[in-house]
Amino acid sequence: MKSSVFWKIKLASIILIVFLVVAAAVIVTTVLLLGIKSSASNSTIQYYDGSFRILNLNYTNDYKDDSSSGYKLLATQLQGLLTSTFENSSLKSQYTKCEVINLRPGSVIVDFVLQFTTTNQGTTFPTTDLVHKIFIENFANSSWSSFMVDAGSFNISSISGSDAYNLLNNVISATAGYNNEYSNTPHK
Ligand SMILES: *[C@@H]1O[C@H](CO)[C@@H](O)[C@H](O)[C@H]1NC(C)=O
Ligand SMILES: *[C@@H]1O[C@H](CO)[C@@H](O)[C@H](O)[C@H]1NC(C)=O
Ligand SMILES: *[C@@H]1O[C@H](CO)[C@@H](O)[C@H](O)[C@H]1NC(C)=O
Ligand SMILES: *[C@@H]1O[C@H](CO)[C@@H](O)[C@H](O)[C@H]1NC(C)=O
Repeated sequence: MKSSVFWKIKLASIILIVFLVVAAAVIVTTVLLLGIKSSASNSTIQYYDGSFRILNLNYTNDYKDDSSSGYKLLATQLQGLLTSTFENSSLKSQYTKCEVINLRPGSVIVDFVLQFTTTNQGTTFPTTDLVHKIFIENFANSSWSSFMVDAGSFNISSISGSDAYNLLNNVISATAGYNNEYSNTPHK
């Protein structure tokens, strides 16, 4: 009789412990899921990685070195042109900035990263097709730039924040203070 009471208490304790462990697991999982969900819906920055070919420009050794004045001059010029392209488009309100990250020979192939930001929750980011279309219409086909751009060479894809961070921090920015802004951008 005494031992049966003992076992009942022991069983009750075990059930209680199991219940507490399960409850704790459920709470932890819920908190984690909510955390992931809210950080995803707060994510308001989208990066795109892209490249295009300039036909009427000869590649020089300067372009291999992102700290050279030749590189900086061309990168700054191209960043300005890309900025005008997107600021003068339907993506105006979302376009934030661009950075040239590499200049490759052929004649000159430009690699860059674009950043778009939304402030309104639920706003969707531009598709790569739309970014592509604006590039072809406003940049590759523009008369206001002296560069002859091969419209068919334009490649664009969306990339994660951490990929963008790595790409951007691999280079010394042509624009002073630019990388610091990117480094302060939260990334996963
Ligand atoms: C665009 O991508 C294609 C296929 O990956 C590649 O062959 C081409 O060289 C790329 N163009 C540029 C300008 O990088
Ligand atoms: C590029 O180099 C070639 C050969 O030296 C030259 O004929 C051509 O004019 C140059 N193009 C530009 C845009 O400077
Ligand atoms: C801006 O867009 C307008 C209308 O599409 C066009 O006429 C103009 O050339 C564009 N300017 C630049 C700098 O792209
Ligand atoms: C490029 O510009 C020309 C003349 O301004 C226009 O006729 C042509 O449709 C444009 N092409 C594209 C792909 O926007």
